[in-house]
Amino acid sequence: MHGLIFASLRDYTVLRLGEERAVELWANRIFETTEAYDDERFSAQLEGLVVASGDSMDEVQRGFGSFAAKSTFAGLYPGYYAESTDTFTFLLGIEEKIHELVRATIAGAYPPKLHVQPLGEVGVLVSYTSDRRLCDLLVGLVLGTAEHYGEAIVVEELQCMHLGDPGCVFTVMRPETEERPVTRSVFERLPRGALTSPAPAGRDRGT
Ligand code: HEM
Repeated sequence: MHGLIFASLRDYTVLRLGEERAVELWANRIFETTEAYDDERFSAQLEGLVVASGDSMDEVQRGFGSFAAKSTFAGLYPGYYAESTDTFTFLLGIEEKIHELVRATIAGAYPPKLHVQPLGEVGVLVSYTSDRRLCDLLVGLVLGTAEHYGEAIVVEELQCMHLGDPGCVFTVMRPETEERPVTRSVFERLPRGALTSPAPAGRDRGT
C-alpha cells in the first residue's frame, strides 16, 4: 500500500485516539509519502488501531475510509470533487478519472479496478476485486463521499469475497421513499457470483 494511504491512516488514528496514543501506535514506524510498502504492514497498522480503539476491523476500515474520502482525497483532488457535484456522478467517474490517473502518476500505487454502472435513476452498482479484500474500506469511502456532498445514501453488499464470491458487489442507492420504492428483488434472485465482472486485464492489484 502506498505511503500516502499510511499518512492518511495516521491522521485518522490521531483523530480517533488523540495525538499521544497515536504516537505510541506509530512509534518507530516511518512511512514516506513517496514510497509504497508491503500490504502486511498496512494490515498491522489497522490491527493496532482495532486493539487500541476497541473498534472492530469493519468499523476501523469504514471509519478510515470515510475520513480518507472527506479529508485526504478531497484535499488531493479538489477539482474532481467540485466537478462531480453528487455521489453517483463521482462514483461513475472514479475508475477512469481518478484511479487511472493515480496508477499513471503515483509510482507504486495500485488502486483496485472498480466497475461502476448506473442503476437507472436510483443509484449505482459497484463491483470490486482485490487480493487486499478491503470491502469495508470501500463502504467507508462511499459513505464519506456521500457525506462530502451532504447526501443520504444506502450501501448494501450483495456479494462478498469474504463469503467465497469471486468479487464484492454493492448497490449504492438513495434511501427508499413511498414515492420511490426501490425493488432489490431482481438482485436477490441472482445466483452468488453472478454480478461479478470479469477480472480486468493489465497490471493492478485488483485481479
Ligand atoms: C478522489 C478519490 C480517490 C482517490 C484519490 C483514490 C486513490 C487511491 C489510492 C492512492 C489508493 C492506494 C493504492 C495503493 O496504495 O496501492 C486507493 C485504494 C483504494 N481505493 Fe481509491 N481513491 C479514491 C476514491 C475511491 C472510492 C470512491 C472508492 C470506492 C468506491 C475507492 C476504492 C478503493 C479501495 C477499496 C482501495 C484499497 C486498495 C485495494 O483494495 O486494493 N477509492 N485509492
